[in-house]
Amino acid sequence: MSDAMSAEFDTVAEWTAAVARDLGPPYHVPAGCRGSGNPAALDWLIGELDLRRGKTLLDCGAGVGGPAAYAVGRQPVTPLLVEPEAGACRAARSLFGFPTVQGSADALPFADVSVDAAWCLGVVCTTPDHDAVLRELRRVVRPPGRIGLLVFVARTPLTDDETPEGNHFPTPGSLGDAVAAAGLTVVSRLRTSDLPEMPGEWQDRVDRVDEELERRYGDDAAWQVAERQSGQMGDLLADGRIFGEVLSLRLS
Ligand SMILES: C[S@@+](CC[C@H](N)C(=O)[O-])C[C@H]1O[C@@H](n2cnc3c(N)ncnc32)[C@H](O)[C@@H]1O
Repeated sequence: MSDAMSAEFDTVAEWTAAVARDLGPPYHVPAGCRGSGNPAALDWLIGELDLRRGKTLLDCGAGVGGPAAYAVGRQPVTPLLVEPEAGACRAARSLFGFPTVQGSADALPFADVSVDAAWCLGVVCTTPDHDAVLRELRRVVRPPGRIGLLVFVARTPLTDDETPEGNHFPTPGSLGDAVAAAGLTVVSRLRTSDLPEMPGEWQDRVDRVDEELERRYGDDAAWQVAERQSGQMGDLLADGRIFGEVLSLRLS
């Protein structure tokens, strides 16, 4: 993983958990959602993936674990997290206590057809081999194979200079090809820009966590790198060069 990605997804993940622990339980889930921030997207996926009591949910590229914790708060599913960054694994375990395995989306450390559903939120564009990620998700889910994705997609291919370090945005065409090549079908999709705004209370908690991170770590190079990365993502979204898409998939 690139240095910039490690700063953002390893070092800052662990700092985020420390800040959230200090601020208290109401901050844990908003602080722990680092790519999938809008609860409306998670609610939509929870419905699409038919998450219910007793179902296992694999959160692939789980980061600090907020989305899995949000799902458990809505429906008593059994979560299983996989995440390559050791600091993020420690952060997720310390905040939520869920089983968290260190591993990569393109070689999932799980048996075939071993989970009821999987989601992978804000992760595809951080991995170079989109075909492998989708193939692995398909391999581990039981039929009917409910899979959720939140993906940042480039309208047209970006140059290396335009791409935040370590990112690999699919285009609409390449994402469609990867889904089909994995033997998956899109059931339904929506744009993150069409979702309602984040609830004010949620946004306030995210802002409070960010203020505290800035206060504690603002002078640290890792914080500055992570801020630059997320600023570049924000600019690309604002310019419409990339957009967020949430997809519900099933086995073909
Ligand atoms: C934008 S964050 C999203 C985290 C979390 N899914 C969320 O929505 O809060 C992207 C995550 O993908 C993880 N990631 C990067 N490369 C990965 C890979 N090859 N396999 C699985 N996860 C990966 C990063 O470490 C990071 O935690």
